[in-house]
Amino acid sequence: MKNKSEFQKDLISWFRKNQRELPWRKDKEPYKIWVSEIMLQQTKVDTVIPYFNRFMRIFPTIESLAKAKEEDVLKAWEGLGYYSRARNLQQGAKQVMQQYKGKIPENSDIEKIRGIGPYTKGAILSIAYGKAEPAVDGNVMRVYSRIFSVWDDIAKTQTRHIFEKLVRETIDQKNTSDFNQGIMELGALICTPTNPKCKECPVKTHCQAFQDNSQGELPIKSKKKPPKPIKIAVVLLFDEKGNIVTRKRSNPGLLENLWEFPNMETETKAILEEEMRKTFGKKVYVKEKLMELTHIFTHIKWEMTVYKGKIEEQVKENESLKLIPFEELTDLPFPVAYQKIYKEVKQNGLQG
Ligand code: ADE
Repeated sequence: MKNKSEFQKDLISWFRKNQRELPWRKDKEPYKIWVSEIMLQQTKVDTVIPYFNRFMRIFPTIESLAKAKEEDVLKAWEGLGYYSRARNLQQGAKQVMQQYKGKIPENSDIEKIRGIGPYTKGAILSIAYGKAEPAVDGNVMRVYSRIFSVWDDIAKTQTRHIFEKLVRETIDQKNTSDFNQGIMELGALICTPTNPKCKECPVKTHCQAFQDNSQGELPIKSKKKPPKPIKIAVVLLFDEKGNIVTRKRSNPGLLENLWEFPNMETETKAILEEEMRKTFGKKVYVKEKLMELTHIFTHIKWEMTVYKGKIEEQVKENESLKLIPFEELTDLPFPVAYQKIYKEVKQNGLQG
């Protein structure tokens, strides 16, 4: 890069004029930056905005989040997916209360907080505390791979360090927040994955890829394995009063402690019925197919077939097994895949 200070100036003045008004940009309260950055991992800005606003109403301070019931935190996160983010955020809030007197550390101690990795660390330190730290995510790697013509594979974990070094060397020490958010904003509005708007780019004169006309080839990103398909049969089991059997997931890791309808890994209705009888008793009947749907996670893809069913046994409710009227299901946190079932039934009724 020939002229670093011109680059900083061009980027920052563009950002100040063109940045989107986002709720976490109104002030730079570290807690708000923390929550927004965690939500923005894996989720688009437009989706995050209403969740962020609601989350701040429910948990306005680190203290309120630390004291909340985990189930209420998961409920507020419902629909955003990747629930370990929510669990870690709350664990992190507890840590901040207990170990750091309620204030997110301004130094490298911040790394010790649950859920705060190198990206979130850099985002909080640079946006909320004005520290010259890189905050490198996929968008920043795309922008920098073009500006500096970096041909390393951004799907590889180690590649991030190359970009962190470049950001450290180029960040505006006095305007760390506008600089880092300027790069993010450039990635969102101009330096997009396909068809980047180079003509409108405020830093095109500093961009190597623009000079070489290689912006269409960068960044280099090798393909990850496609998600592995898993067949799941689900049953909406109604008792005689019309309540639905609902249980809490215990499967450690994936969607732990969220709620679901009884299900198992199979494509066969008879096997599902047999399993349900083992669990609940003989008088369980799996009947007509209601719908098929798929839900994609990072590594796996659920191919779900949903049946209607009937249970004439007495079900003993407990902490993780409940009989619930359809309308009250929304009180519990469900994974998106199960919310899709709920929505479909609500729209179209139960006719199979
Ligand atoms: N993506 C991640 N963090 C962001 C931020 N602070 N502003 C806009 N997009 C983002």
